[in-house]
Amino acid sequence: MKNFIKRNDFIIRTYSFVYNLIGLSRARVRGKKNAIKKGIIFQKKTRIKVSGNNNLITLGNMSRFNNIDIRIVGNDNELTFSGRNNAFRSRVIIEGNLCRLYIGNSAHLNNLKIVVAGEKSELIINDESSFFGEALIACSEGTKIAIGKDCMFSNNIIIRTMDAHPIIDEKGKRINHSQDVIIGDHVWIGDHAILNKGACIPDNSIVGSGAVVTKKYDQPGVIIAGNPARIVKTNINWLRK
Ligand SMILES: CC(C)(COP(=O)(O)OP(=O)(O)OC[C@H]1O[C@@H](n2cnc3c(N)ncnc32)[C@H](O)[C@@H]1OP(=O)(O)O)[C@@H](O)C(=O)NCCC(=O)NCCS
Repeated sequence: MKNFIKRNDFIIRTYSFVYNLIGLSRARVRGKKNAIKKGIIFQKKTRIKVSGNNNLITLGNMSRFNNIDIRIVGNDNELTFSGRNNAFRSRVIIEGNLCRLYIGNSAHLNNLKIVVAGEKSELIINDESSFFGEALIACSEGTKIAIGKDCMFSNNIIIRTMDAHPIIDEKGKRINHSQDVIIGDHVWIGDHAILNKGACIPDNSIVGSGAVVTKKYDQPGVIIAGNPARIVKTNINWLRK
């Protein structure tokens, strides 16, 4: 029965239409050449606010949105949910120009705050990655956060490419430049981990609970833990079960 419904386009379209009708969702768009492209989606209490020009929001097929706030302020920004996404109780803020936020197929977001700010900043969450608890992911000043496929994020995690305030030397020159954060494929990030600017986590690795990571690691299959973080085990992998 379930498979029959899944394969029947007409039933899905009718169901999503009725669901969306009673779901108290709304969109307010101000400016020119903004577009919201929607596939067959299920949305409840989803609020979209766009202010600026030439912004594009794509909400891909068979995605479920419940209690989602999307706010874009600026021009030429692009936000994409590829499809089959589950997004619950989350806020997405893009404040800037030419920024890009891409969420891959079947990614799962829960209790997330995403901030993409400044000029040409970019956040990519690849296919099948999942966030289960509260997390803040923020990039700005033209930096990028790239999260690989099939990553698993626990609770209360912070990932950021910038410190938010400049630190200067005695000549007034800034010393804390923002830097990309790169997370490979199949990475498990434990409770209360913090990934600060410049952090790179290789494929098949684990970041232990409470770790504060500021450095780049390139050997796949390691456990990185502690504050300051260090490699505590090598030649490991983990299973999602
Ligand atoms: C990272 C983790 C998975 C490693 O487990 P493990 O392979 O059994 O590691 P061990 O307990 O053998 O510890 C190995 C070493 O790392 C240290 N270590 C492990 N986890 C640590 C952590 N979170 N912070 C600091 N040090 C840690 C241990 O003290 C030990 O140090 P030593 O070799 O000097 O004695 C685990 O410690 C952890 O952090 N679990 C929490 C995961 C989580 O957040 N789950 C929530 C649900 S998604």
